[in-house]
Amino acid sequence: MTEAKKPAATVNAGAGIRPLVAGNWKMNGLQAALGEAIAVRDAILASPPKADVMLCPPATLTMVLAEIAKGGLLQLGGQDCHSNASGAHTGDVSAEMLRDAGATAVIVGHSERRTDHGECDRDIRAKASAAHRAGLVAIVCVGETAGERAAGLTLQVVARQLAGAVPDEATAASTVVAYEPVWAIGTGLTPTLADVAEVHGAIRKALAARFGGEGERMRILYGGSVKPQNARELMAVPNVDGALVGGASLKASDFLGIIAAYGG
Ligand code: PGA
Repeated sequence: MTEAKKPAATVNAGAGIRPLVAGNWKMNGLQAALGEAIAVRDAILASPPKADVMLCPPATLTMVLAEIAKGGLLQLGGQDCHSNASGAHTGDVSAEMLRDAGATAVIVGHSERRTDHGECDRDIRAKASAAHRAGLVAIVCVGETAGERAAGLTLQVVARQLAGAVPDEATAASTVVAYEPVWAIGTGLTPTLADVAEVHGAIRKALAARFGGEGERMRILYGGSVKPQNARELMAVPNVDGALVGGASLKASDFLGIIAAYGG
């Protein structure tokens, strides 16, 4: 499932789509971790990459991170939102609340939400629409399980998730798709570059067929065990417009090593 080292690759920056490198801290990060975000903020301000850079901290850190990010290049996202703007939904956070706290985007439909909370494509579509309603970019996650890949169902599963979870009002500015094979998340495994190219190509085709020019310009991120060591070759695959990074976004040095794929 891994690919032999390829010669130095050229990332797809400057092809008309501004890439995005987003770090998802998941349920990690106390205030003591803020120094990592400060280090990322300072490094990208000193040497601006040819990509947008975002951190998606746990909800508890959003406001303080917004203060830290103020006036710089670091963007902030949430990890999930409820589909309603407010109401009796104990423990949930709305897109409006994230926006109010300083976020400009929110991840919806991460496979951990699908697994841990039983979210289906219809739920995720409603959350993506909530993000749009609140003026947030929706980062919509799709991806097959190991079993689905083994059964040859990858493209079918991803097409079904895209059709179900991406709302009709999606535009290139309001929506990002993240392809994250479930079996590659947190495992150190990645698909071959040819497999990444195949799935991203299929996603691009589906988005273009449904949304026309907007679909042609919508960013498609790859996620799943992106590390400094493999970022450059993954980001060079056609139709890979950046990365959604979990574990390697927790340490500034690792995250900056990935962002370096888009270094000047
Ligand atoms: P990982 O997670 O980088 O730790 O594999 C990716 C993700 O879940 O977004």
